[in-house]
Amino acid sequence: MEEMLLELEQKCAVCAACELHTGRTKSVFGVGNPRSPLMFVGEGPGEQEDLKGQPFVGRAGQLLDKFLNAIELDRTGCYIANIVKCRPPKNRDPLPEEQEQCIAFLREQFRLIRPKMVVCLGRIAAQRLISPDFKVTLRHGEWILRGESLFMGTFHPASLLRNPRQKPDAFADFIKIREKLRELTVNS
Ligand code: URA
Repeated sequence: MEEMLLELEQKCAVCAACELHTGRTKSVFGVGNPRSPLMFVGEGPGEQEDLKGQPFVGRAGQLLDKFLNAIELDRTGCYIANIVKCRPPKNRDPLPEEQEQCIAFLREQFRLIRPKMVVCLGRIAAQRLISPDFKVTLRHGEWILRGESLFMGTFHPASLLRNPRQKPDAFADFIKIREKLRELTVNS
């Protein structure tokens, strides 16, 4: 499985299916442990991610790491990917057609990794993977069964940097993630 992921990552690195490739320094495929039952999905790379080729390595990423550490996890205990693999100009939201082109990579990542839990970080991922009208402020922390995986939407760490008052709600979601992860690992 790791080999197939690597092959997919190599395809992603040279993908030119949408306009976003023209502004890319590096594509950002995904990092972490593909054998973990837990996958996080963000929106798309920002400036630091584009330079380094890794998801969530800027300020938002540092906050994500803090939340992970608070539930005794790090990047070796989960897998982290994004809806789009190339940075949108000036960090704008990825356009529907860009998401549409790029989602094929994420689908393949799901197919290979088969995560039991998928946590959508922010509106773009939650609306794409859970439902088009998903409102993070209203439905964060809810587990939603889709096929054989449980999905949850929670706040994007960049949104938590802008609105620190949301942090306790986000933290409560991470506690739920820890509980579900324990439940699933005890029963497997
Ligand atoms: N924001 C995202 O949604 N993904 C990243 O990888 C970095 C910032």
